[in-house]
Amino acid sequence: MEGKFNSKVALVTGATSGIGKAAAIQFARAGARLVLAARREDLGTALARQIEAEGGQALFVQTDVTDPAAVAHMVEATLQRFGRLDCALNNAGIGGEVMKPTAEHTLENWNAVIATNLTSVWLSMKHEIPALLAAGGGAIVNTASTYGLIGSTAGHAPYAAAKHGVIGLTKSAAIEYAKAGLRVNALCPGWTHSEMVDPALEAMPDMMNAMIAQDVPMARVADAAEIARAALWLCSEEASYVTGTALVADGGWVAR
Ligand SMILES: NC(=O)c1ccc[n+]([C@@H]2O[C@H](COP(=O)([O-])OP(=O)(O)OC[C@H]3O[C@@H](n4cnc5c(N)ncnc54)[C@H](O)[C@@H]3O)[C@@H](O)[C@H]2O)c1
Repeated sequence: MEGKFNSKVALVTGATSGIGKAAAIQFARAGARLVLAARREDLGTALARQIEAEGGQALFVQTDVTDPAAVAHMVEATLQRFGRLDCALNNAGIGGEVMKPTAEHTLENWNAVIATNLTSVWLSMKHEIPALLAAGGGAIVNTASTYGLIGSTAGHAPYAAAKHGVIGLTKSAAIEYAKAGLRVNALCPGWTHSEMVDPALEAMPDMMNAMIAQDVPMARVADAAEIARAALWLCSEEASYVTGTALVADGGWVAR
C-alpha cells in the first residue's frame, strides 16, 4: 500500500470497533503497518485479516489496557514484529455509568472509568515513548472527548474527570518530549457512532436526539471515520508543528 504513512508503524488501542477500527483501516490504507491492540480476539484477528486482504500488514495483540503486563507486552510485540513504532493512538475507553449526578456514582464505576480512560493512557505512553524515541520521534494521539474540555451533560462526571486528565497528561508529555521530535496531542470527539453511543441511540432515541440537537450545532452524530481522519492528520507530517493541543471534532458543540 502506498501513502503518507509508508514505512511507518502505527499502534491503535481499542482497535476492534468505532473510532479505533476506522483509524486502523485508514492507517493501513495510507501505508502504515498496524498493531491492533484490543481485547476481543475474534474481532482483532478478523480486522488483521481484512487489512492483509487489502495488501496491508497488521498484527493483533490481545490487550486489556488496564493490565500493566499486557500493555508492556503490546509494545514488546510491536517491536518484535515490526522493529519500530512511529505513531500511537491511545483510544480504548468506556463510558461507565451515565445519567447519574456526581454523588450517585459508585466507587467501582469511578475506579473502572479512571483505570480504563486515564491510567491506561499514561501506562500506554510509558511503554510507547521509549520505542517512539528510539525510532527518532513520531506522534502520539490520545483520544479525549469534548468532556475533556467541558462538564458532562450526560451524567458521567467520572468520564469527564478522566478525559480532562487525558488532556493534562497530553500537554505535559508534549512539552517534555518536544525537542526529541515526539509530538503528543489529544483528540476531542463529540457524539460519534460507535459501540459506546449507538446502543443508547437505539434504546432512547427521543432523549438522545433531543440532547444531540441541543448540544451540537451540526445537529448530527459523527461517523467514526470522520473522527479517525482527524487522528490520522495529527499523526501525519502535515501536523508537523502541532503538539500539546486538544483538537476538537464535535460538529461545533464546544464553540457555543
Ligand atoms: N463515541 C463517542 O461519542 C465518543 C465521544 C468522545 C470520545 N470518545 C472516545 O473515543 C474512544 C473510542 O470510543 P468509540 O466511540 O470508538 O467507542 P467504542 O466503544 O466502539 O470503542 C472503544 C473501544 O475500547 C475498547 N476497550 C474498552 N476497555 C478496554 C480495555 N480495558 N482494554 C482494551 N480495550 C478496551 C472497547 O472494547 C472498544 O473496542 C474512547 O476513548 C471514547 O471515550 C467517544
